[in-house]
Amino acid sequence: NESHPPPKNIVLIGFMGSGKSTVGRELHHRLGYPLVDMDHVIEHRAGKAITTIFAEEGEEKFRDMETRLLEELCDPAAPRRIISTGGGVIGREANRDLLRHLGYVVWLHAPVDVILERTGKNRDRPLLHTDDPRARIEALMEVRTPLYEKTAHLRVDILGLDCGELATGILESA
Ligand code: S3P
Repeated sequence: NESHPPPKNIVLIGFMGSGKSTVGRELHHRLGYPLVDMDHVIEHRAGKAITTIFAEEGEEKFRDMETRLLEELCDPAAPRRIISTGGGVIGREANRDLLRHLGYVVWLHAPVDVILERTGKNRDRPLLHTDDPRARIEALMEVRTPLYEKTAHLRVDILGLDCGELATGILESA
């Protein structure tokens, strides 16, 4: 309900290209809560793009940065925020616990075709630098779907909805 803003952080999870950043910006504009885009914070801190972090330091180092940032965000004294995550943040059990502790976790669920279409437009996703992105997406999704499912408080199917409708739906159930 938009006249009663949610008393908690809203945490957006979901696959690459599911719209976490866009919906996060929409919620930020509606509620006025600061937006934390975890990928952006990590890039800013590292002083390099995610692709470069993966190439130079490896995925595990990137995952460590994600875990460290989640721990920081769990500060109970911090103001309420909108937090958009990277698609793989649910891989670690510790992260899943931190995410649920952090606030109301919303899973933006999108079908493979939508993901493929959207992620094809930019090259800043090292996990999709492959000859067969569809196969990679399907493989990752198979592993991740149960993890999104058990981490989220709410699942939202994005198909056919624009970011305004998605934000409204989230705020109605938050
Ligand atoms: C990743 C998703 C990316 C980014 C990194 C790894 C993943 O974020 O964190 O490339 O493992 O799915 P987006 O979901 O914002 O693309």
